[in-house]
Amino acid sequence: MKISSSQAIELLKKNQVVAIPTETVYGLAARIGSDLALNKIFETKKRPFFDPLIVHVTSIDQAKTLCLSWNPIMQCLAESFWPGPLTLVVPKTKIVSDLITSGLTTVGLRCPQHPIALEIIEGVGQPLAAPSANLFGQTSPSQADHVISEFNNQVPVVDGGACSVGIESTVLLVQNLKISILRPGQITELMIEKALNQEHLEFQWTKSVDKKLSPGQMKHHYMPSKPLFGIDSDFKGDLISRLNKELSQLPDEVEGVKIHKPKQIRSVKELVLSDLAPEAARQLYSELRILAEGPEDSLIFHFNKSHDGPEWVAVRERLSKACTKYIKS
Ligand code: TXA
Ligand code: MG
Repeated sequence: MKISSSQAIELLKKNQVVAIPTETVYGLAARIGSDLALNKIFETKKRPFFDPLIVHVTSIDQAKTLCLSWNPIMQCLAESFWPGPLTLVVPKTKIVSDLITSGLTTVGLRCPQHPIALEIIEGVGQPLAAPSANLFGQTSPSQADHVISEFNNQVPVVDGGACSVGIESTVLLVQNLKISILRPGQITELMIEKALNQEHLEFQWTKSVDKKLSPGQMKHHYMPSKPLFGIDSDFKGDLISRLNKELSQLPDEVEGVKIHKPKQIRSVKELVLSDLAPEAARQLYSELRILAEGPEDSLIFHFNKSHDGPEWVAVRERLSKACTKYIKS
């Protein structure tokens, strides 16, 4: 059911969950002060409690109320990229419930750019926790209709149009002077570096992050309702028979994420994306949903050298995790 912003504000105040548009993807929102509503997020998404939620704020000042030690790196990045698709993982204050952070001492904070998201947070008068509005492990929603079909019309959604970025925010862990990208997004490593250098701030990239500090790193994610196979540019041979061979060896589930398996693969549909990474990001989730509804029993995507550039890191990561299997030569 589609609802207005003011209806969403009322429902959120009454401890309900509501799907709201952001510039990245639609989020399934709840008030951070309502454990009842936060529990409903996990229940609705069938999300395991070990995976923490992102908290959405309207300003740097509001973010600071949730952070134990706001530092110049956080200030610089928030000023450079908020409102926008960057989530900062920072030490949390007591206001932030353990349900949101899965018991971690950090919280992910982001100020979204969509005017409707900002209007709703403002109207509720409290930050909103919101993971992407999809079932755990499945394709994220970049349009209101995606949310409606994902939850069989059981979750009210505010329609804010198609998301302008189309894939989730960059998640950056900030530990004193050390920074690490936990999830790539439209805000790239280079953009972060440039912003910090401009302010002459000292910082250090760390590539290896303790797994406990980043629990959301599942092997599979964003998966469409039919198997998607990544095809290496070196692959030669009979694709259908190779896919059937791979199919017979697939597990039913990986790390709690269900693997979709037809009995047999007879036909494939190719996912074709723009050659420009930002456009490909906008197309990705809606194309996956459209193709998964077609008559073919599986989907394929041809990876090639043009996807190796730094501007492709985020789209490539989503595609790799959405793939049931990568087929090499
Ligand atoms: O663009 C986005 O970020 C969207 C929109 C709705 O804002 N939200 C989103 O939320 O993608 P979700 O829950 O689907 O992904 C959040 C990611 C997860 O991988 C989670 O593990 C990670 O951020 N995360 C959240 N809080 C964290 C924390 N305290 N420490 C480490 N990782 C965290
Ligand atoms: Mg998600």
